[in-house]
Amino acid sequence: AADMDKDLARVLISEDELQAKIKELAARIDEDYAGQDLLIVGVLKGAVMVMADLARALHLPVQMDWMAVSSYGAGTKSSGVVRVLKDLDTDIAGRHVLVVEDIIDSGLTLSWLVHNLKSRNPASVEICAALRKPDAVKVPIDVKYIGFDIPNEFVIGYGLDYSERYRNLPFIGTLAPHVYGEA
Ligand code: PRP
Ligand code: MN
Ligand code: MG
Repeated sequence: AADMDKDLARVLISEDELQAKIKELAARIDEDYAGQDLLIVGVLKGAVMVMADLARALHLPVQMDWMAVSSYGAGTKSSGVVRVLKDLDTDIAGRHVLVVEDIIDSGLTLSWLVHNLKSRNPASVEICAALRKPDAVKVPIDVKYIGFDIPNEFVIGYGLDYSERYRNLPFIGTLAPHVYGEA
């Protein structure tokens, strides 16, 4: 059975560091979109934590919507195949849209998603991601708001899963090697 403490190799980014960074990003977003109508779009399921924290740190009266997109399934490697599991409820034509993600790994998910959203004629589409792995990026992505650049290791917590587990860790950690053999 999964034991979150035993399964953790090390903490990469602490809860305090994450929360401080989210507040910084929120302050920039407040300033950049002042006086404008902003829709923030969380990419389920990984973006749930960063979306919830970012939204509460913002002073702008944003609207929130969600898309469910999955490219990883149960494994640790991107399949490269993006599946839309839930589309937006909102018509984004003429709207300022900020896509909120937990991580940019290969970049395939966001590259596909931004292209998809831009075809709906929004006023603008920008990205806010908590994490990015510069050494793993396969497609160049223009990210306006980035939390942390991290090494190319499999990370869990703060929304990020391994086989749907560990999303609820309040920090970013790496997984102990013994866990990979058990899935
Ligand atoms: C993960 C993560 C990002 C995406 C990043 O989602 O939450 O959405 O992969 O990888 P990429 O840059 O290589 O495309 P996943 O597909 O695992 O779905 P989930 O959010 O439901 O865990
Ligand atoms: Mn995701
Ligand atoms: Mg996942």
